[in-house]
Amino acid sequence: MVTLKSKRNEIKKILIDCDVGVDDALALILAFHSPEMEVRAMTGVNGNVPLGAVFTNIQKVLSLIRPKNRPLIARGADRPLKGDTIHAHSVHGSDGLGGAKIEVKQGKVWWEEYSGPADELILELAYQFPNELALIAVGPLTNLALALRKDPAGMKKLKELVIMGGAVRTRGNATPYAEFNVYSDPLASQIVFESGIPITLVPLDATHQVFLTPGCMEERVKPIGNAFSQFVIEATGYDTGAHRFRNRDNIFLHDPLAIGAVIDPTLLKTERLSLQVETQEGEYYGKVTENNDGPKIDVGLGVDAERFLEIFLSRLS
Ligand code: RIB
Ligand code: CA
Repeated sequence: MVTLKSKRNEIKKILIDCDVGVDDALALILAFHSPEMEVRAMTGVNGNVPLGAVFTNIQKVLSLIRPKNRPLIARGADRPLKGDTIHAHSVHGSDGLGGAKIEVKQGKVWWEEYSGPADELILELAYQFPNELALIAVGPLTNLALALRKDPAGMKKLKELVIMGGAVRTRGNATPYAEFNVYSDPLASQIVFESGIPITLVPLDATHQVFLTPGCMEERVKPIGNAFSQFVIEATGYDTGAHRFRNRDNIFLHDPLAIGAVIDPTLLKTERLSLQVETQEGEYYGKVTENNDGPKIDVGLGVDAERFLEIFLSRLS
């Protein structure tokens, strides 16, 4: 018989490092609606939008989710370790949430603001929950690299890293060769990939296979009819009259799939590869390539897209 205690032990403790944008927000909703995990903290990093907007968006999404456990939230890096600070307003809108009508709820607060920076919170929780805390990173890896520089042994207390990023055997989305999160801070990505911490990478090779279509919005999302489905409609810019998205054919579920990989690791078909990142400015800046030295990581090159989409949609209601 599975006792409550042993059942409780199976609930995975999670920290999510994010650059809340639209798909990050969908990932947060999925994570908080998943009984397999408990989100203990979120850290913000410059990425889709500037750090200030990321941090506001974390609070907006928590005001929508209304988590019972008041997770910790912390601000992180407002620029990459090296190179230009870039954003993706064309994809996520000027506010980072596609203009969704969502506010930071005043009054009851659904989070606890950490007094220090993100890299300190990451290390503090790694020490508090040795070999128990999984860190899911769905933005540029600057905060993780800063924590590794500060205390590599402390970071090794993390159970695992699950990272949305990279384009390994497929075309990039920031350039023909590089994926946005890695392209935003290639040096940080290189530092994290060679850290020796157990890593599952969820690259575009997998995430480009999971997306919302107008048909899915009509048949599966709209009928849910709650605050979460309404948020998905607004944040993705779905026009319910024209039956199409405002500025794209489909909406990729990049970050939600990283959550999916923790909910059920069998969703991904992985290969163990050692990867390097092009950190020199130029045409291939941020490109991820396979090499034969350095620690091997699990790279998700395939996904059971249908099964993941069902998990995502069923947890919106
Ligand atoms: O390339 C997709 C990734 O870049 C996602 O995490 C998206 O939110 C952006 O950060
Ligand atoms: Ca992201």
